[in-house]
Amino acid sequence: MDDLRAKYLGAIAGARDEAALEELRVAAVGKKGEVSLAMRELGRMTPEERQTAGPKLNALKDEINSALAAKKAALGDAALDERLRTEWLDVTLPGRSRPQGSVHPVSQVTDEVTTIFADMGFAVAEGPQIESDWYNFDALNIPAEHPTRTEMDTFYMHRDPGDNRPPHVLRTHTSPVQIRAMQAQGAPIRVIAPGRVYRADYDQTHTPMFHQIEGLAIDRDISMANLKWCLEEFCRAFFEVDKVELRFRASHFPFTEPSAEVDLRCSWEGGQLKVGEGDDWMEILGSGMVHPSVLRAGEIDPEIWQGFAFGIGIDRLAMLKYGMPDLRAFFDSDLRWLRHYGFSALDVPSLRGGLSR
Ligand code: PHE
Repeated sequence: MDDLRAKYLGAIAGARDEAALEELRVAAVGKKGEVSLAMRELGRMTPEERQTAGPKLNALKDEINSALAAKKAALGDAALDERLRTEWLDVTLPGRSRPQGSVHPVSQVTDEVTTIFADMGFAVAEGPQIESDWYNFDALNIPAEHPTRTEMDTFYMHRDPGDNRPPHVLRTHTSPVQIRAMQAQGAPIRVIAPGRVYRADYDQTHTPMFHQIEGLAIDRDISMANLKWCLEEFCRAFFEVDKVELRFRASHFPFTEPSAEVDLRCSWEGGQLKVGEGDDWMEILGSGMVHPSVLRAGEIDPEIWQGFAFGIGIDRLAMLKYGMPDLRAFFDSDLRWLRHYGFSALDVPSLRGGLSR
């Protein structure tokens, strides 16, 4: 009995963790543990032997159990001490710096424009950036030989010789979304479609990838007057001025008839743009009444429905509103530029709270 006592009390004192302690408990006082087995031997002893051995074994069992409990508590304390030692925090240190990222002016202006048109009941529509030449050209009344196809400096997707799938392009404008939206929703319809477009062109005001917002409104009795009002309202809200003056200049797009390019009255005194005053005119968008062939391509009956469409360059709007002189810098990912011209993620544009403040 003294051997058992020495063996287990020593082992318990040296146990490193709770798992080792549990093993010792099973080995000593578990159902088949050494102390338990010894207790079972009591039955075979004479009454005299049992009288001395019984209490001793019980005392040994109690002693081992309380040693186990004490050790378990000690191990718990040690684990807690260890956690307290490693998991500490110096609350007197300065806080983390504010987030480094900013909202790119293109995203900001897209949100601003979307917010303004959403207020006029336009929903957002989308289309793919890799587009079939049917959606990008044919459906928009631009047949294969039409000069617009070359004027737009189109990027064609590579095709292996013998590949008979329809040719695809990187969309040169957001106008193909007009067709997709008409096909998907029918008339009446009022959508805007912001997104990336591509043309092989590169200088201070052109980059091979840029952004447009397409607008489309089709109903039974929509006219040029509705177009003009929408665009004037838009400019007032976007440039945050009360007075704007637009000039509709006759133009030509294959997908609208009549077509108009729209100029905005402005002044450039001292390199500072002022909208609504001065003697300069700045072209900001293309627009017109949707051509009957385009309505038909969109599966809408031109005998019943008519409407207007427009396409605005988002990057150009951003340059004008926020005074950024070189478009190429938009896509250079220069952190200094992004910090200077970027917007806070918390400045969500809203017509009530102010678009750009
Ligand atoms: N898609 C034309 C462009 O990219 C713009 C436009 C859109 C003109 C809709 C008229 C109507 O230049």
